[in-house]
Amino acid sequence: MEVKTSLLDNMIGVGDMVLLEPLNEDSFIVNLRNRFDHNEIYTYIGSVVISMNPYRSLPIYTPQKVEEYRNRNFYELSPHIYALADEAYRSLRDQDKDQCILITGESGAGKTEASKLVMSYVAAVCGKGQEVNKVKEQLLQSNPVLEAFGNAKTMRNDNSSRFGKYMDIEFDFKGDPLGGVISNYLLEKSRVCKQPRGERNFHIFYQLLSGASDDTLMKLKLDRDFSKYNYLSLDSANVNGLDDAASFRTVRNAMQIVGFMEAEVQSVLELVAAVLKLGNIEFKPESRVNGFDESRVKDKNDLKEMCELLGIEQSVLERAFSYRTVEAKMEKMSTTLNVAQAYYARDALAKNLYSRLFSWLVTRINESIKAQAKTRHKVMGVLDIYGFEIFEDNSFEQFIINYCNEKLQQIFIELTLREEQEEYIREDIEWTNIEYFNNAIICDLIENNQNGILAMLDEECLRPGTVTDDTFLDKLNTICAEHQHFESRLNKNSKFLTDHSLPHSCFRIQHYAGKVLYRVEGFVDKNNDLLYRDLSQAMYKATHSLMRQLFPEGNPAKVNLKRPPTAGFQFKASVGVLMKNLQTKNPNYIRCIKPNDKKVAHIFTDSLVCHQVRYLGLVENVRVRRAGYAFRQPYESCLERYKMLCKKTWPHWRGPARDGVEVLLTDCSVPTEEFAYGRSKIFIRNPRTLFTLEERRRACLEDLATLIQKIYRGWKSRTHFLLLKKSQVVVAAWYRRYAQQNKYQKIKSATLVMQSFVRGWKARNILRQLKYEKRCKEAVTTIAAYWHGTQARMELRRLKTEARNKRAVSVIWAYWQGTKVRREYRKFFRANAGKKIYDFTIQRIMQKYFLGLKTTTMSPMDNTWPAKPYGFLEGAHTQLRRIFHLWRCKKYRGQFTEEKKAVYEEKLEASEIFKDKKALYPSSVSQPFKGDYLEIQKNPKYQKLNSAMEEKVLLADLVNKINRANGKGSPRLFLLTKSNFVLADQKTGQVKASVPLPDLASVSVSTQSDGFFALKLKEGSASASKGDFLLSSEHLIEIITKLHRIGTTAADRDQINIDISDEFLVQFKQDKVCVKFIQGGPKNGNSAACKRKNNRLLEVSVPSP
Ligand SMILES: Nc1ncnc2c1ncn2[C@@H]1O[C@H](COP(=O)(O)OP(=O)(O)O)[C@@H](O)[C@H]1O
Ligand SMILES: [Mg+2]
Repeated sequence: MEVKTSLLDNMIGVGDMVLLEPLNEDSFIVNLRNRFDHNEIYTYIGSVVISMNPYRSLPIYTPQKVEEYRNRNFYELSPHIYALADEAYRSLRDQDKDQCILITGESGAGKTEASKLVMSYVAAVCGKGQEVNKVKEQLLQSNPVLEAFGNAKTMRNDNSSRFGKYMDIEFDFKGDPLGGVISNYLLEKSRVCKQPRGERNFHIFYQLLSGASDDTLMKLKLDRDFSKYNYLSLDSANVNGLDDAASFRTVRNAMQIVGFMEAEVQSVLELVAAVLKLGNIEFKPESRVNGFDESRVKDKNDLKEMCELLGIEQSVLERAFSYRTVEAKMEKMSTTLNVAQAYYARDALAKNLYSRLFSWLVTRINESIKAQAKTRHKVMGVLDIYGFEIFEDNSFEQFIINYCNEKLQQIFIELTLREEQEEYIREDIEWTNIEYFNNAIICDLIENNQNGILAMLDEECLRPGTVTDDTFLDKLNTICAEHQHFESRLNKNSKFLTDHSLPHSCFRIQHYAGKVLYRVEGFVDKNNDLLYRDLSQAMYKATHSLMRQLFPEGNPAKVNLKRPPTAGFQFKASVGVLMKNLQTKNPNYIRCIKPNDKKVAHIFTDSLVCHQVRYLGLVENVRVRRAGYAFRQPYESCLERYKMLCKKTWPHWRGPARDGVEVLLTDCSVPTEEFAYGRSKIFIRNPRTLFTLEERRRACLEDLATLIQKIYRGWKSRTHFLLLKKSQVVVAAWYRRYAQQNKYQKIKSATLVMQSFVRGWKARNILRQLKYEKRCKEAVTTIAAYWHGTQARMELRRLKTEARNKRAVSVIWAYWQGTKVRREYRKFFRANAGKKIYDFTIQRIMQKYFLGLKTTTMSPMDNTWPAKPYGFLEGAHTQLRRIFHLWRCKKYRGQFTEEKKAVYEEKLEASEIFKDKKALYPSSVSQPFKGDYLEIQKNPKYQKLNSAMEEKVLLADLVNKINRANGKGSPRLFLLTKSNFVLADQKTGQVKASVPLPDLASVSVSTQSDGFFALKLKEGSASASKGDFLLSSEHLIEIITKLHRIGTTAADRDQINIDISDEFLVQFKQDKVCVKFIQGGPKNGNSAACKRKNNRLLEVSVPSP
């Protein structure tokens, strides 16, 4: 079931001012304040929405909220702008009624935000699809573009719209948006040249300078610094919360979405830049012959850049700032401009240029967003126009704006009353006339074609002769003197002569929203909105196509001597068109109110709100609305809401709703004059009646709630009790079963125990019986066995005795036989037979022993010898072993030839010299002493050397001769004969040294495993001049042995001394050098290395063993 809600539910204060009781200004403000404090910024007056600006974002514009308000009746939920938007959209779609949404209020009251909220709501709820979405997007994106060019920071609002905007959104029959048309009204162009303190120029200037890329700025000849431009007031260039650079990107993006070409965007920016440049052009006076001052451009740089930017000839523009051509009746006259006039002309040009650019933008956007299809459209207009303005200093602009607001108020009154009236007629209720203030009279004062203020201003502007603001005021003073709403000091009717709040140069109008004092200064100029023709012609000459488009009157071909329509005239005309347009549509009002002047959240300034409430005529609005009946409601919802107040309608009423309501109201004894029955609605005259009904409903709801609670509690307790009862039965049944089961189990186990005892007892009895029987049987067997055993043993004993007796007999017999035989043979043995047997036995043993020795071999190396067999052979056994060994050695030696013998002799000698003295020795034992390692006889290479030798070469080998000076080795051939040794070159075989052996005194070698040896010569001998030789050879042992042997065998010579030690002296020329061997020397390989340390020491490093 759908829950029916109402705005009356949980309302703070009253959601609809119509229900305010008592109704007066104070209660009105208190209600607004109360709601504002509780974040309820929207309040209704019937179908009008009052919106308070919260100055902070509230969480009430979420997509969920949109869904909540979608397709709901206006009074069903708490007041919201979405409810109004929904109502408007649905009656447009479903009832085919064109709508307009009129948003009014002061500057900063939230009109523009409200218009955006309405548009976004409609965009969210209307149809979807690619085409539709594109249209929506373009409509929404037109806002940022217009805001950039048409909004500015003012004292009241950081994003104040400085133009009026009316946007028609067009829909097809399904309610899908097709496109739109925007109309703009009166841009506040004076802002381009001058801004009040604390305010800014239009956003786009700041956005362009902050947000454009360096490249773009360079193209536009602009500088990022705001202070470079006269038209940008400095004191508030940066606004908190406004990011101009980011906005610039948004704007460019929006322009792209709306459909601007890149070139168009560029042209627009160029014109913006041109306005800035224009502001920087300054003038200086130049005296002329005729005594007048003529203006000249001061610094031509900005002028030059601007002309370059727009493609204007510099001289043309320069001239336009100095001269003015006046054409009258085919005559042309040129007059000079003084400096003040030049500045006026410059500013007029800037203002015109900018405002025309703005209008062009609107036209261009319209081109993009206009509906394509030609079918009939339904239209929803959204009007966001400047609100009523009362400043300290009010000028032409305020006059125009307030005129517009008067017109809107007029249409508001007309339409609300008309609607009210129409509803009464529709509902067939008697119409009672309502007293209200009609501002038509003020509108007439301003717009009357004959004697309206605007008409007189135009007349004054067109009049020949001197026209000033004062002449205009004079005229007003004469013509409007009698008007109730016009006040002036110099009025004919001298009512205000003494009114000092009314200065002489001012007039005052009593607007519907309050009195406003207007200063006439500037009225004529602003209305004329004059731009010298020379300037527009100069602009038309530009090559910049958009510029030419903006100044069509500059076309010399179309010279039009007629004055252009005045600003006032144009505005009046456009307001007229707007009013006509609005009158054809169903109006929806949003009245925006500003809670404080500080633009901050949570502050509610009573006086300020009161002022707005007053001039917006809101209390009057409520009065008009309540004039007949304060409250109305369709019968169905009324019955639904109050049916509980009457027994007949509660809980259901079967008949028609209207009858139900009648029954209900009669039953509630509401006085008959308090209500009227319409066709579909009940009309309640007094809010108090409604509140009484509401009060009774609340009380009744409480009773109903109690009743519902009572029934519910009873039902709940009963259900609970029944459940408990049912559970109890189940629990009891389960318990009983469980107890019985337990008892049964116990009996069962007891029975089993008893049974087992009885059975056990019986079984034991039987067992005992059986055991007894078994024992008896066993006893018989045992007795029998014992008996048989005894028998058998007795038999065995007998048999054994028998056998023993038998053996004893045979032994005794054998002994007897032996004795007999011995006695028989003893006589055959001689007395010395024992010696023979002994010898024979010994012989046999020896024979066997010798035969056993045969196994040994003839090799002298064989150490084996059989073990001695008998102790008595001990001495003979060792002797025999020795003798046999000597014999077999002799046999072995006997096989040797002479040479081999010599070799062995050599080896023997080597052993005598070196064994246990030099570490090299053991490795030489297995090497045969070859003698001739070079094969000197056979090798043809050494043939010459061989033939040079006089005797037989005993040894030829390659040795390393150690250089005496540095210890480095070089290979040499070493030859040894019986009488000398020779050292020869290894390659050529040329003899290097030949030393007779008798000159050799001694040989020194180390104890290590190296091959170094020193051949020391006898002092004073012929060979000793160079000194001793230090050589090294792999065959050291052989060489030394051979040398030694030659010494031993030669009879005429002393034996050569062989000195083995790790340190010995050698004679190198004059030096006695110590050769020292140290272990653990060279790391590379294991050969020894020799190094001459100094002239006393030569060190040989020998690898560690
Ligand atoms: N409904 C809202 N919620 C939050 N802030 C709002 C709302 N309406 C207005 N404002 C704030 O007030 C400022 C002025 O609103 P704006 O619509 O520009 O005023 P107006 O168009 O009436 O001059 C906005 O910039 C915004 O900060
Ligand atoms: Mg605005």
